[in-house]
Amino acid sequence: MTREELVAGWRWFAERECRGYSPLYEAISTAVAASTELHERLLACSNHVRQPNMLLAAMHDLVLRGEEPDLGAHYGGAAPTVADTGHLFVETALRRWEDLVPVLEARRTQTNEVGRIAVLAPALATVAPHEPVTLIDVGTSAGLTLTLPHCRIDFGDRGVLGPPGSPVCVECAVLGGNPPVRPTAIRRRIGLDRRPLGPNDPDDARWLLACTWPDTGRLERTRAALALAAAHPSDLRTGDAVTDLPALLTAIDGPIVVTTTWALAYLPEDARAAFVDVLAAGSADRRISWISCEAPGVVDGLPQIDPPDVAGTSASVVGATTFRNGTTVERTTLGHAHPHGRWLWWHR
Ligand SMILES: C[S@@+](CC[C@H](N)C(=O)[O-])C[C@H]1O[C@@H](n2cnc3c(N)ncnc32)[C@H](O)[C@@H]1O
Repeated sequence: MTREELVAGWRWFAERECRGYSPLYEAISTAVAASTELHERLLACSNHVRQPNMLLAAMHDLVLRGEEPDLGAHYGGAAPTVADTGHLFVETALRRWEDLVPVLEARRTQTNEVGRIAVLAPALATVAPHEPVTLIDVGTSAGLTLTLPHCRIDFGDRGVLGPPGSPVCVECAVLGGNPPVRPTAIRRRIGLDRRPLGPNDPDDARWLLACTWPDTGRLERTRAALALAAAHPSDLRTGDAVTDLPALLTAIDGPIVVTTTWALAYLPEDARAAFVDVLAAGSADRRISWISCEAPGVVDGLPQIDPPDVAGTSASVVGATTFRNGTTVERTTLGHAHPHGRWLWWHR
């Protein structure tokens, strides 16, 4: 990567990813794009470190450790101007560079959005209306969506799911259709990820928070979801979505629902096809349902339905694929959803 490409990447990030969503990160990214000294240091690191999210997360990690209270105050909204925050960020990054490098090299950006349970709940009620199922979340990150039975999900006048006193409450506006608002009986909750983050591991939990943008209102709910995941642990396994899934499926009796929420996109196209083959092969003697919540075009073969025109967001596709007798028997487009589960448009 050339210096010009690095600078263009940070500018693009400021203008296209942050503007209108995170004024804090827009100001910081603009300041990083102007710092030749930081460019040199970033260019000396591994490729993955050059993604803006990596430096932003590693610096947020320092703030969450309480080691940079001045910057922390700016993150908390106490900055005189956003330009001041940009300057302070660059100055702090240069001063703390030796501490940042090991984190930048060892970690990858990792997100986990608990709001997606509002999309999963009606999809589960659709594919598993009767018998209890084993839930396997592939690309689970810290397993936050596996806390679904312990969270409150509020669909407004369509109904509410989950324990009333839950510390995690997800609100989801139903903009179209009639999603089933019913609980699903879940026997076991298993998560698979090539780099799972342990909700009980302080460094992992803090890193997940560090990857969450500070001024977008998602930090507190993610913190609460991590605590909930620690209190009601799921069975989190380290493994690959394609090569390690067959053994996991074989070891489980009875009906299985596999979920992928904004995870399949991270697999190369041949691996996505191999993932579908694994699910089909695992269904030789029972039913496997796969609920996919992914960007348009990521899951092949779902019936094409035009996404609703909801201003400000590109809708993700909620799909259900059923496998039986070793083959795919049904593909359904259940709905469209906001990528973080803020709204749902059900096609039934
Ligand atoms: C964007 S995160 C989504 C996390 C979570 N599903 C959610 O909706 O919040 C994608 C996750 O997929 C995992 N992942 C990517 N490729 C994978 C693979 N081949 N096998 C298993 N996990 C993978 C990453 O480690 C990461 O935790």
